[in-house]
Amino acid sequence: MFKWLKKNRQLYPLVEEDIFNGKIPEHIAIIMDGNGRWAQKRSLPRVAGHHEGMKVVRKVTKLASHYQVKALTLYAFSTENWKRPKTEVEYLMKLPGEFLSSFLPELIEQNVKVRVTGDLSQIPEHTRKIVNKAIKDTSKNSGLVLNFALNYGSRTEIVHAVKEAISCIEKGEYTVDQFDEEKLTQCMMTYPLPDPDLLIRTSGEIRLSNFMLWQLAYTEFYFTDVLWPDFNEEHLIQAIKEYQQRGRRYGGV
Ligand code: IPE
Ligand code: IPE
Ligand code: MG
Repeated sequence: MFKWLKKNRQLYPLVEEDIFNGKIPEHIAIIMDGNGRWAQKRSLPRVAGHHEGMKVVRKVTKLASHYQVKALTLYAFSTENWKRPKTEVEYLMKLPGEFLSSFLPELIEQNVKVRVTGDLSQIPEHTRKIVNKAIKDTSKNSGLVLNFALNYGSRTEIVHAVKEAISCIEKGEYTVDQFDEEKLTQCMMTYPLPDPDLLIRTSGEIRLSNFMLWQLAYTEFYFTDVLWPDFNEEHLIQAIKEYQQRGRRYGGV
C-alpha cells in the first residue's frame, strides 16, 4: 500500500527517485532572482523576465502543493526594490494581481492558502484589492500556505516586531524579564509560520538581500546559478534532494 502511494506521488519519476524516502521540507523559502538577466540575455526588456518568472511561481507552487509542503514563501518585492526605475516598479506592483487573477481558481482547487508577509499599505490599491480577495477566498483552505513576501524587508520587520513587543510590555502583557525569543517570534510578520527549513536563491547571488534574517537562523541554504525564469520542477526536486542529504544538528552532535 505504502509503495503504491509513493509511486503515485511521482510526477517526475526520472529525477524523483528516493525523494519520498527522505524528509520533505515543511517550509521552503525562495529568493526568486535573475529575471532581469534572463531578459537581458534575450535582448528583451527586464519586465519580460518578470513575466516569465510568474509562470515559474505557478509551477513551483503546484509541485510544492503536490509534495504536501506546508508553506512556500516567495520573495516577490523587497523594501529595497523601490530603488528600481519607475516603470519596472510599476510592472512589479501589477504582477501579484496578474498572477492571482489568472491562477486563483487553480490555487483554490489545489487547496492553497494565500498569505502575504510585508507592508501592503504602499502597494497600489488595485493590486492590494486582488491580493486581499485572494487571501479571503482561500482563507478556509487547509493545504499549502503560499506566502508572498511583498514589499518585505527583514530589518524593517524586526524594528516593527521590537516596537510591538515594547508596546506589549507597556500594556503589561508581559515584563521585560519574560520577553524571550518566542515572544519576539510572535511579533514577526511571518508568525505563525514555522521557520523555513530550506532557502533557495537562484541566479548565482550568494546573499540574503534583507530576507528573513530572524527566521533563517537554522535554515539550510541552497544556491543555484539557474536564473529564476529557467527554474523548473526538476531544479526544485534537486534542491529538496540536496536538503535531504544535509545533517541538521542545531548545535548538537
Ligand atoms: C528578481 O529578479 C525579481 C525581483 C527582484 C523582483 P531581478 O529583477 O533582480 O533580476 P536580476 O537580478 O536583475 O537579473
Ligand atoms: C532580492 O533580489 C529581492 C527579490 C528577489 C524580490 P534583488 O535582485 O533585489 O537583490 P540584490 O539587489 O541583488 O541584493
Ligand atoms: Mg536581482
